[in-house]
Amino acid sequence: MGQYLQVIKLDAVSLRDAPTRDPVLQSTQAGAIVDNCNHLHTMLTGLLQRLRPVGLDELGLAAALEHCVSTWRARLPGIDVQLTTSGEYGDVPEACALTAYRLVQEALTNIAKHAGAHSVRVLLERTRASESRDAMHVEVTDDGKGFDMKSPAGGLGLIGMRERVEGLGGRLEVSGSPGKGTRLGAWIPAMTADVGEAA
Ligand SMILES: Nc1ncnc2c1ncn2[C@@H]1O[C@H](COP(=O)(O)OP(=O)(O)OP(=O)(O)O)[C@@H](O)[C@H]1O
Ligand SMILES: [Mg+2]
Repeated sequence: MGQYLQVIKLDAVSLRDAPTRDPVLQSTQAGAIVDNCNHLHTMLTGLLQRLRPVGLDELGLAAALEHCVSTWRARLPGIDVQLTTSGEYGDVPEACALTAYRLVQEALTNIAKHAGAHSVRVLLERTRASESRDAMHVEVTDDGKGFDMKSPAGGLGLIGMRERVEGLGGRLEVSGSPGKGTRLGAWIPAMTADVGEAA
C-alpha cells in the first residue's frame, strides 16, 4: 500500500509542479492516480474482509466467540478460560455483534498482556437492559493483578472499546482494583431501533 501511495503522491506532485501544461501528460498522470486509487480501494476492501472475525457471518456471534475463546485457550495454557453464552443473536445488527466480539478480543488480549490471571470468565447473554431496551450483556472477568481505575496506563484499547460501545448507544463499565482482578461489563443494544440512542 505504501508503494501505491508513494506513486500517487509523485504523480500528484508532478501535476502540481509541472513547469508547462502538457494536456496529454496531465491526463496520463491523472489517469494513473485514478487507477492507483481504485487499486488501493480494492486492496483495502479485501484486507478488511480478511480481518473480519472467523465465522461471525456464517456461524453467528455465539459460535464465533466459542472459536475466539478456544484459540485464546491455546495461547494461554496456564489459564482456565470459561465461556458461557445464552440467547439468540441472529437478528442482532452486525455493528453490535462485531463490537461484542471485539470487546472480548481486547479483554482477552489485555488479560494476556497485563493480568497474570489464573481464571477468566467470559459471559454473553441477551438481556433487557431497561423496560424497553433489548441488549447484549458481555462480561469478561479475571482474577489477575487488576489495576488502579483512576490512573490506568495510557493504552488505547479500553478507550477505543468505550467509544465503540457508546457510539452504539451502549455502556461499558470497567471495575476492579490492584490485587483484585478486573471486570469488563458492556451492555450493547441488540435491536436496530436501539442503535445510536443515548445510553
Ligand atoms: N485485565 C487487566 N489486568 C490488569 N491490568 C489491565 C487489564 N486490562 C487493562 N489493564 C491496564 O489498563 C491499561 C489500559 O488498557 P488498554 O487496553 O487501554 O491499553 P494497553 O493494553 O496497555 O494498550 P493497547 O490496548 O492500546 O494495545 C493497561 O496498560 C493495563 O495497565
Ligand atoms: Mg489493550
